[in-house]
Amino acid sequence: MNNIIAKLIKEHRLTLDEYKELICGYDEKAAELLRDEAVRLRKEIYGNTVYIRGLIEISNICKNDCFYCGIRKSNKKCERYRLGCEKILSCCDYGYSLGFRTFVLQGGDDGYFSDDRICALVSEIKEKYPDCAVTLSLGERSEESYERLFAAGADRYLLRHETADSEHYARLHPEELSLKNRIVCLEKLKKIGFQVGCGFMVGSPYQNAVTIAKDLKFIEEFKPDMCGIGPFIPHKDTPFSNYPAGSVDFTCFLLSVIRIIKPDILLPATTALGTLSENGREKGILSGANVVMPNLSPEEARSRYMLYNNKLNTGVESAEKLEGLKKRIRAVGYEIVTDRGDIKK
Ligand code: 5AD
Repeated sequence: MNNIIAKLIKEHRLTLDEYKELICGYDEKAAELLRDEAVRLRKEIYGNTVYIRGLIEISNICKNDCFYCGIRKSNKKCERYRLGCEKILSCCDYGYSLGFRTFVLQGGDDGYFSDDRICALVSEIKEKYPDCAVTLSLGERSEESYERLFAAGADRYLLRHETADSEHYARLHPEELSLKNRIVCLEKLKKIGFQVGCGFMVGSPYQNAVTIAKDLKFIEEFKPDMCGIGPFIPHKDTPFSNYPAGSVDFTCFLLSVIRIIKPDILLPATTALGTLSENGREKGILSGANVVMPNLSPEEARSRYMLYNNKLNTGVESAEKLEGLKKRIRAVGYEIVTDRGDIKK
């Protein structure tokens, strides 16, 4: 195990078999070694700064039926909503006043948000706040659509690959969705010029050392600018309601591994991590994460954008709440900054 860790630290890459061995050799000692190196690398590039992104959950209406997700189409118990453009702009206004310089518009695959609507929204945000970055997280769209969104001024796009093993992918998604198309989308986004984020859930049903090894290999080869990983958490009204949640500590171990694979990567300590453990996000930061994404959505959206049970409400609906988050991050030795927070290549 120690020689595999040494090789990863030296070369920032492993073979598929070595990744598998690394995953199977996971224990507290390995986690500590990797954590120390991950923190050293992140400090070298990003110092002790933590970037914040204002997350705006624009719609929970979704045409997809992913087995793990609480806002899947078949969940009849989900109370649906979508935010109007005015509402979204007022979230940005408020976020800007708090010091946010990146807005992430995330939503289900909702036909209402056509290219015309999103482009108009993005142009308006960029016009009002030229010093801000706009990140979109709106699922799989056509190449033409991605091109239009980029031309309208969107800077970044998040599209988790969910798993890099096609059979595993098929066990998490309905037939219409394929890993192949997911990867095609990610490649297109990159080619167009977006800063691109992929990612996956840790502890999703049917995940194993081989599928995770493939995820790590994919990250190593695709070289994303960002990578969102968080523990799987069951949602009561989905087919996966009875599966156990992923582990916070194992997620943190993987955060460290990903930091070492790509030292300059933007790596969020996710809401799911904070949901499973009271200090989950701090643990994420201490394992090599350098981004947090508090919620700027209005109250009516926040309670309804339930991807999984008990989703943490990390809202910053008041300046005091943001101050509270800053304090928590400061308490572990890091500093939230007012900055677009682009990747430092
Ligand atoms: N547990 C954890 N993460 C989830 N996501 C969706 N459902 C769940 C769940 N039950 C993640 C997916 C998706 C992102 C927006 O949220 O990885 O890409």
